[in-house]
Amino acid sequence: FWQNVKMGPADPILGVNEAFKKDTHDKKVLVGVGAFRDDNGKPLVLTAVRKAEELILKQNLDKEYLPIIGLDSFNKAAIRFAYGSQSAPILENRIAITQSLSGTGSLRIGAAFIERFMPKGTKVYVPKPTWGNHLSVFSDARVETCEYRYFDPKTNGLNIVGLLEDLNNAPNGSVVLLHGCAHNPTGVDPTQDQWAQILQVVKNKNLLPFFDVAYQGFASGDPVRDAYSLRLFTDAGLQVMLAQSFAKNMGLYGERIGSFSIVCATPEEKDCVLSQIKILVRPLYSSPPLNGARIAEKVLNDPELNKLWLVELKAMADRIINMRQLLRSYLENDFKSTHDWSHITNQIGMFCFTGLSPAQVDRLKDEFHIYLTRNGRISVAGVNTKNAKYIAEAFHQVTK
Ligand code: LMR
Repeated sequence: FWQNVKMGPADPILGVNEAFKKDTHDKKVLVGVGAFRDDNGKPLVLTAVRKAEELILKQNLDKEYLPIIGLDSFNKAAIRFAYGSQSAPILENRIAITQSLSGTGSLRIGAAFIERFMPKGTKVYVPKPTWGNHLSVFSDARVETCEYRYFDPKTNGLNIVGLLEDLNNAPNGSVVLLHGCAHNPTGVDPTQDQWAQILQVVKNKNLLPFFDVAYQGFASGDPVRDAYSLRLFTDAGLQVMLAQSFAKNMGLYGERIGSFSIVCATPEEKDCVLSQIKILVRPLYSSPPLNGARIAEKVLNDPELNKLWLVELKAMADRIINMRQLLRSYLENDFKSTHDWSHITNQIGMFCFTGLSPAQVDRLKDEFHIYLTRNGRISVAGVNTKNAKYIAEAFHQVTK
C-alpha cells in the first residue's frame, strides 16, 4: 500500500529536539522549541497548577466526555482573561468560543471556519516571517496564505512602512493574522502607536483580524498589558477571531489547552456561528481534553490560585528578561564582540531572533552542540546562568 510514500523532512522546530536528544556531548544546549525551563534547564510545573491538581483530585470527579465546545467555566474565564471582563463583546454576550487543542488546534479550527464560510479565494496575510506552523495549518485547511512585510533585518526591528503598505494593498475583506504579543519568531512587537496605525488600515480595508495570542503574560509579565493589541481592536468595535493558548503562560504544554473564539455582531449571530463551530469540531476530534481544562479553569477562577499564578508568571517572564541581559553582557563585556547585540534585550517574549545565518546555526550545532532553529531563533527560556557564557562564547566565535 505505502511503497510510494516518501520520507518527509523533520519539523523545523520539533525536529531540533530530536537531533538534540541524540547528541551525547556534556555541554549540549537546547534553545529550540519555545518551552520554559528553570535555571537548571528543567521543565517547570507551576505551584498554582500543582495546587489546582490537588483540589481536582480531592473532588473525586468523573471522566465523562466534555461537550463539543469544552468546559463552560474554562471558556468563560478564558475570554475574560483575553478580552477583559468589562469588554463590550463579553457584556453583550456576542463571543462564540470553543475550548480547543492549545494554539495549533485553535488556529486549525479558525482556518477551517475561514475555508467554510469566507468567500472562495480569501487569503490570509501572515507576517514575514511567522511561526512556521502557521503556513502548514492554513495550507492543510486549503486556505491560501500571503506574506506581509514585518521584520527588517537591517534594524532587527519592525518594518512598519512595509507592513502598512502590504496590508493596504491586500484585497478588501482579506484575513490578517496578527501575533497579539511576543511575536514568534522575531520577538519584535509593534509599539502602541504602531498598533493604532495597523488598526486604521485593518478598518479601512475591512480586513478580518485573526489574533494568535500564545504568550499572554510572557511578553511583559503582565497579562493585561500583553492583551493591549487585542483589546485595542475589540474596543474599536472590530470583530476579531482569536486563537488562545495556555501552554506557555500556565506551563500546560502537554495538556493541550487553549481556545478559539470569534467576536460576532449580535448574540443571535454568535449562536449561529457557535452551532457551525460545533459542526466543524465534532468530526475533527469530537471534544477537547478534560484534565487541562479543569486545571486552567481553577487557576483562572480561584482567586487565591489566580494570585499565585500571576506572581509565578511574572517570575517566568523576568527570568527570561534577565537571561537576555546576561547573554548580551557576556558577548559585549567578556568576549568584546564588536557586533551590535542590542536586539537581544530589545526583543521581547520567549524568543530572540539572533540574526545568525543558517551556516552559523550549523556551526553552533556541529562545533558547540548548541541547537536552535535554522532561522536563527533562540528560545531564551533555554538559557540559564550555567550555560549563558558558553552560548555567548559560541555566538562570538561564529560571528567573528
Ligand atoms: C515554538 O514556536 O517553539 C512553540 O510555539 C512550540 C511549537 O509547537 O512550535
